[in-house]
Amino acid sequence: MYKFIMCIMCIHLYVLCLHTPFSVFQLFINNQWQDAVSGKTFPTINPATGEVICQVSEADQTDVDKAVKAARDAFKLGSPWRRMDASHRGLLLNRLADAIERDSAYLAELETLDNGKPYAVAYMVDLPNVVKCLRYYAGWADKWEGKTIPIDGDFFCYTRHEPVGVCGQIIPWNFPLLMQAWKLGPALATGNTVVMKVAEQTPLTALYVASLIKEVGFPEGVVNILAGMGPTAGAAIAKHMDVDKVAFTGSTEVGHLIQQASGSSNLKKVTLELGGKSPNIIMSDADMADAVEQAHFALFFNQGQCCCAGSRTYVQADVYDEFVERSVERANRRVVGNPFDLKTEQGPQVDQEQFNKILGYISSGKREGAKLMCGGGVAADRGYFIQPTVFGDVQDNMTIAREEIFGPVMQILKFKTIEEVVERANDTKYGLAAAVFTKDIDKANYVSNALRAGTVWINCYDVFGAQAPFGGYKASGNGRELGEYGLENYTEVKTVRNTHTHSNRRIP
Ligand SMILES: *[C@@H]1O[C@H](CO)[C@@H](O)[C@H](O)[C@H]1NC(C)=O
Ligand SMILES: *[C@@H]1O[C@H](CO)[C@@H](O)[C@H](O)[C@H]1NC(C)=O
Ligand SMILES: *[C@@H]1O[C@H](CO)[C@@H](O)[C@H](O)[C@H]1NC(C)=O
Repeated sequence: MYKFIMCIMCIHLYVLCLHTPFSVFQLFINNQWQDAVSGKTFPTINPATGEVICQVSEADQTDVDKAVKAARDAFKLGSPWRRMDASHRGLLLNRLADAIERDSAYLAELETLDNGKPYAVAYMVDLPNVVKCLRYYAGWADKWEGKTIPIDGDFFCYTRHEPVGVCGQIIPWNFPLLMQAWKLGPALATGNTVVMKVAEQTPLTALYVASLIKEVGFPEGVVNILAGMGPTAGAAIAKHMDVDKVAFTGSTEVGHLIQQASGSSNLKKVTLELGGKSPNIIMSDADMADAVEQAHFALFFNQGQCCCAGSRTYVQADVYDEFVERSVERANRRVVGNPFDLKTEQGPQVDQEQFNKILGYISSGKREGAKLMCGGGVAADRGYFIQPTVFGDVQDNMTIAREEIFGPVMQILKFKTIEEVVERANDTKYGLAAAVFTKDIDKANYVSNALRAGTVWINCYDVFGAQAPFGGYKASGNGRELGEYGLENYTEVKTVRNTHTHSNRRIP
């Protein structure tokens, strides 16, 4: 019955996409739906079939200029947004969360259709976390306080937490709705205006959310959402002279370009959440069944398309063979298929490019001498499905142990001592996340203190909360998102010093 209902919903969605000029797939600028100035569109693809879902307006520099102007006007001193009570900004964010919650079945479907992630995951994981994130930041809107500071002399000194201004936000395709919420929440709570570029692979849900932003009453120009390509629209934001900050989530390679574009334009503030090659360390005293299941989840969740995926699984020598055997057995049981089927654990990769790239990494693993334990091939005759793949006997210098694969390909490496594994785990340009599985609190503390990573999980993986910061050491990025820390880089601190009549001054 459930399946039947879902199928009906799915057909409904297709009909909408194919037969009505559905306004959400234009650009959202100044609370209006607009075609790209160039008139260009691009197709967005259903990765489960390789078929076109619909056409989307393609923004380039001219559209970015329009959006930045709208955001700049909305940010002018005295504008409705700048004069709005902080509590009311919070109210609008809460209303947006309510509208997303109301439409969450529809949004989850659209996410699955465009991204390929299992509907059950989109509905049970992505959507609830989007709503929680927006509500969390709604609460901050009137609580992000400055200080009064006792400087020497007859002065009253205080700080104001002011918005940075026009924020360019460039989000990825692996968690389209969730990354949108992580970016909009802190930016809007602190009173900024936004020009957001969504990933060309997955533009649909973010554009639907744009219609909700308008519905709940955000003033014109506060949020502008554009679909477009990185080298055109993304680059235009990164080098724009009238953008005050850019926040980017995506590859380390593009992170370098964003930072350079800031350096060669107006030194706009840059925060980056980039790639990873996160170590997941299994000590021999760990609960074996739990470690196997968690390590499987750490790597395969979201088709392996997580920047924090536990993609180097280090296993202590005395339990290595058993761990590999049980991990292979688990990977073989992983249900790959139609993402709308509720039993499905793994849908397709997002697009042809990622699909090819992952297959390339699998070949390199075989070529460089890793032991292919299961999978390694294509999982369906259409769409971008890849078999859950496990490599054993992986060495630290192999390409599959050094580069981010972003797919369902697990690397298992053997280690002997805790000192050795910390050294090896750290020996990477990345520093996004790490995990350790052990029953010994001293070992857990040793590893979590030693590893240079922005997040460490102990006996768990991929546990997130809007309240707790996330971000990278080293080439995994700059700055933190979520939590109170996430507000800092959306705020300028202004120090005001005011002369005042002190009690021991002569009163005229
Ligand atoms: C890794 O290092 C070993 C030992 O130094 C060497 O034999 C092997 O060719 C290297 N593999 C790769 C992929 O660089
Ligand atoms: C990793 O951490 C260990 C222990 O703190 C340290 O000795 C090593 O130099 C670090 N390596 C890197 C590449 O950061
Ligand atoms: C703010 O951004 C700067 C520069 O990107 C970074 O170094 C700093 O850690 C960030 N602070 C927080 C709390 O995210």
